[in-house]
Amino acid sequence: MDELKKIADYMVTPGKGILASDEPPELLESKFQQLGVANNEETRRTYRELLYGTHGLEQYVAAAILHRETFEQKDSTGKRFVDVLLEKGILPGITVDQGFDILPGTTQETITLGLDSLSTQCASYQRKGAKFTKWRPAFRIVDDISPSAIAISTNAELVGCYAAICQQYGLVPIIESDVLLEGSYTIETCAKVSKMVLEEIYSSLKRHQVYLQGVVAKPNMVLAGLSAKSKPDPSTVAKYTLDTLLDSVPASVPGIAFLSGGQTEQEATTHLEAIHRQAKMTKQPWQLTFCYGRALQATCLQTWKGKAENVEKAREQFLYRCKVNALAYKAA
Ligand code: 13P
Repeated sequence: MDELKKIADYMVTPGKGILASDEPPELLESKFQQLGVANNEETRRTYRELLYGTHGLEQYVAAAILHRETFEQKDSTGKRFVDVLLEKGILPGITVDQGFDILPGTTQETITLGLDSLSTQCASYQRKGAKFTKWRPAFRIVDDISPSAIAISTNAELVGCYAAICQQYGLVPIIESDVLLEGSYTIETCAKVSKMVLEEIYSSLKRHQVYLQGVVAKPNMVLAGLSAKSKPDPSTVAKYTLDTLLDSVPASVPGIAFLSGGQTEQEATTHLEAIHRQAKMTKQPWQLTFCYGRALQATCLQTWKGKAENVEKAREQFLYRCKVNALAYKAA
């Protein structure tokens, strides 16, 4: 338990965040295609080397989530990426779910797959240097149709099992709760749904006797949907987000690392700054930081375009995004 707590505390070190770099090959397909980059094991390896080889990354990033393919890969000097990160003081973690399936009886809602092989995977990844894991449930808001009660409770149950298994192997489970940004819903609806999802998940963690000081929460920010008519300002987002979390995430959880969920790079930073600003005025028990994927990598990818001569420029862009989010806590 002490070790789990130590890892979880480290992952949310004040002034640092978490890099989500676990996009599966099929998700990188469209991103690489737009840049004219072939999507194969070697180009994905090259891209990950660009990220992890960024000089000074450890100043702003305490942990990185890897896809299982990347977890087994090496940099061009033959060093495992896991060791590259460990040597920099960045904790490597791994996504252990196996994607989604449709939950029968619902309108195209999903459940997350991967419990069957989880114990074996955890034992092996822990031996190979992983310190934490990620499992992603996703909830889509569609009018009064979804997320349905059954989708919320089934996914929450799976998260509870996942977290309990990971902790048995000394791995800190990231507790993700992703209310998807796609939709035209209001911020009030997002707050209501996010609260329902979080409450179910944390009640499942308690049922499964998960050690809450040894997890890291990774919720969505509370926002209006991507195609909503009006967008609340950052201070409203911050207030709704913190109010929702205070109502539903236990104080024993050491830290909350937000996902970016399809916000632009700038929006994700501005909202994180507003959340830190608001947090200074209200009492909240957790460290607050980021666990961004797209919001750290979008410009970096565009700059790289698969060309060796662009690597250093792309790294500058990437490091800049890590830095501004890491320093968001200083927002006055
Ligand atoms: P985004 O920040 O791109 O949403 O990715 C974070 C993540 O890991 C989602 O599971």
